[in-house]
Amino acid sequence: MTPDAPPDPPSISPPIRLLVTTGPTWEPVDDVRYLGNRSSGRMGLEIAQAAVERGHETTVLVGPGVRIPPIDAEILRFRTADDLDTILRDRWPRNDLLVMAAAVADHRPIRDPAAPRKLRRGDGPLTLELEPVPDLLAGLASIPHPGTRVGFALEPRETLENSARGKLVRKTLHAIVANPLETMESDHVDGRVITEDGRDLRPPSGPGPKPEFARWLVPILEDLHAARAAE
Ligand code: CTP
Repeated sequence: MTPDAPPDPPSISPPIRLLVTTGPTWEPVDDVRYLGNRSSGRMGLEIAQAAVERGHETTVLVGPGVRIPPIDAEILRFRTADDLDTILRDRWPRNDLLVMAAAVADHRPIRDPAAPRKLRRGDGPLTLELEPVPDLLAGLASIPHPGTRVGFALEPRETLENSARGKLVRKTLHAIVANPLETMESDHVDGRVITEDGRDLRPPSGPGPKPEFARWLVPILEDLHAARAAE
């Protein structure tokens, strides 16, 4: 190597096609208002950036209100859980690894087709009726596809591990990234990865900034996918 030559790139497993979802969903109340959540979309975007840095072909599905930094990935926007479901069903079969960091709504307003497009205060008190949103990840599990599905769990610290393990099984995932509630809107994360074969992996450096966590996480998911692909 000459003194001016750039350093060798880190050695990585073969490039994979990675699909990351991130950000909130916005479920319409009328044509003006929505029910949303506080997801900033940062974690998923950092994971996508870490994947791009490791040479993976990356597609990011980004929710509403999330500012997207420059990134060498394909970007598609969704607004509602239904939009996200449609894009996922189209894109998942073309990818190898899904990282579902999006904070998908659990409930959405039932809209009366006869209701005005803009609800008015003068119309008096308003009662919103909510219906459950289908579990998108669980739905994807029924598509025959050898890819690796990774979910996220954001839960109170006291019940984090049990809840995450429950979700891993219920959604037939290959791994789940478990984070305490404080992660939301924070620049830092205190996350861990629980795999379907029972491993509980944590960054050796402990809790840290989201970009650092993403750079630790992506190689772990690569290895998980490679091990499954080799089975
Ligand atoms: N998720 C999904 N579809 C939903 C809700 C969540 O695919 N309708 C995904 C999220 O993207 C995340 C994982 O499931 O990767 C866990 O999300 P969470 O909201 O914690 O799970 P729920 O299934 O909503 O469980 P609960 O309501 O019991 O907390």
